[in-house]
Amino acid sequence: MSAPNKSYDPVEVEALKPEEIERMRDEALAAFAAAGDLDALQEAKVAHTGGASPLALANREIGALPPHAKAAAGKLVGQARGAVNKALAGRQAELEAERDARVLVEEAVDVTLPHDRVPPGARHPLTTMMERVADVFVSMGYEIAEGPEVEAEWFNFDALNFGPDHPARQMQDTFFVQGPKGADGSKGADSDGESGVVLRTHTSPVQARALLDREPPVYVVCPGRVYRTDELDATHTPVFHQIELLAVDEGLTMADLKGTLDHMVQSLFGADMKTRLRPNYFPFTEPSAEMDMLCYVCKGESVGNPDRPCRTCSSEGWIELGGCGMVNPRVLTACGVDPEKYSGFAFGFGIERMLMFRHNVEDMRDMVEGDVRFTRPFGMEI
Ligand code: PHE
Repeated sequence: MSAPNKSYDPVEVEALKPEEIERMRDEALAAFAAAGDLDALQEAKVAHTGGASPLALANREIGALPPHAKAAAGKLVGQARGAVNKALAGRQAELEAERDARVLVEEAVDVTLPHDRVPPGARHPLTTMMERVADVFVSMGYEIAEGPEVEAEWFNFDALNFGPDHPARQMQDTFFVQGPKGADGSKGADSDGESGVVLRTHTSPVQARALLDREPPVYVVCPGRVYRTDELDATHTPVFHQIELLAVDEGLTMADLKGTLDHMVQSLFGADMKTRLRPNYFPFTEPSAEMDMLCYVCKGESVGNPDRPCRTCSSEGWIELGGCGMVNPRVLTACGVDPEKYSGFAFGFGIERMLMFRHNVEDMRDMVEGDVRFTRPFGMEI
């Protein structure tokens, strides 16, 4: 076994030559100085101080040196590593300070910026109108009832005593929903109106649903969207809104209906308002009437008075509101209510029409276009 070579000269080990150590140190210092951010510095740190860095490798070489050479080499490498670590810490502190200063600027919150420049949304006037009408009845103890817009033909027509050949059942008046296709790919019950499913043409089917769901006495108010095959123009829209009222109890008469209607128009339009009934026909009420309310603008004074024409009622003194009547006993029977014991009244009218004459809206299309300039003047009523 050979003895250690006493004359072994550490400078002959390439990695431990002073100029090599200096070069490694200077490269590390240059890399730290060049690191523009903390990520880059982290990379430089790994490259120049990590386990595989040139100085770490040089350090490992010391162990192989003869004992007398170890001290000098150790000092050389140790000083270089000390300088490198110091430079690293200095650059680290510098970059962290820069980052902190930048974050303070970038994430600053200007508490003086205006916070209220986003315009508040507005509820659609049809919604607020519908709720306002419903509230009149809720405050009288009525309950809100709802039904589906895609409705069984039975509820929309049959239960309401519409005969099988009633014109409303035809395709030119009612949207029929396409039925499922046959298993063999055949067309299925659809365009000939035999699917048995329609888009409800009025809110009256909720009457039938409410009666089937509850035991009398029943007092319900049913606001909702309805559909008819009308073209969209200034006074028609294929989708519109109605509000329906139904009261079924012992001993209700036409006088209760009239009093309820008067109370509604007085709540909505003023204490001196009243209604009048004109005979009409609906399959589901008997007797049936068309209900008019006194023109709330001229209070009837424009009639026969050319000096004071009224735009709201076209100088007729009355404004047509909707339909009403005593619930037809056949409807009560169809819904499992004994017509010998109970009677009821119902009425229904369109919200769009009410909005038109109450707010002088001349074109119904304004109500469906969703332009906020139409909605905003009605205010943000909740
Ligand atoms: N459903 C009727 C319509 O759409 C209105 C109505 C409701 C009539 C209740 C009488 C009773 O025109």
